[in-house]
Amino acid sequence: MRLEDILYRQGFGTRRVCAGLVQQGHVHVAGAVQTEAGALFDPQDLLFVVQGQAWTWQEKAYVMLHKPAGTECSQKPSAWPSVYTLLPAPLRQRPQKGAVQGVQAVGRLDQDTTGLLLLTDDGAFIHRMSSPKKHVPKVYQVTLRHPVSAQMVQRLLDGVVLDDDPRPVRAAACEPTGPSSLDLTLTEGKYHQVKRMIAAVGNRVEALHRSQIGGLHLPADLAPGQWRMLSAQDLALL
Ligand code: URA
Repeated sequence: MRLEDILYRQGFGTRRVCAGLVQQGHVHVAGAVQTEAGALFDPQDLLFVVQGQAWTWQEKAYVMLHKPAGTECSQKPSAWPSVYTLLPAPLRQRPQKGAVQGVQAVGRLDQDTTGLLLLTDDGAFIHRMSSPKKHVPKVYQVTLRHPVSAQMVQRLLDGVVLDDDPRPVRAAACEPTGPSSLDLTLTEGKYHQVKRMIAAVGNRVEALHRSQIGGLHLPADLAPGQWRMLSAQDLALL
């Protein structure tokens, strides 16, 4: 593939901008500066450096972000900064079918929720992960306003009725982790589901953190606001 096309496909701007980056000596491949925009490379696993930043070719980008509190998952947030501002420009500019699309969040977390958020430009992956049939478990660490009781845990496991659906929603698992905290595992993703389930059992969420999706845990060394690409092993855990 031509070097300018490699950069274009990875989100470094229009083909013209990418050709300019190469011609102006801003791109290194295999440790050597490349100034020929049409130079051919096999993109598979290609390592390259653009303006001092190292990149590896990704056919599709799969990203995990430690979402901090006070950020919105929308591209056009109404009141808080968007989580997308935490990602580098190429991840936000990756083209799809000729248009700038960038990676998209796989589901959303509330503004005040922290923790594991996945983003990708693989539409089929988003569809699979969000499908109600797939039942991908998600673990939430919940801090409650009032103490947790055995009866409350049992009601969450048995199922509670939320206002928009007569069918009860159940927690797949519910483990108290302290006097007023619990880990709740859900396999659905209804709007404000944790907060509404906790309200339905007479308590209130004070803080909410998503620690796990499928078998993938938020790594302890990924600080709030930081992101990294998912490895093949990470993807297998989903
Ligand atoms: N449930 C909620 O209530 N909020 C979230 O952000 C995620 C799940």
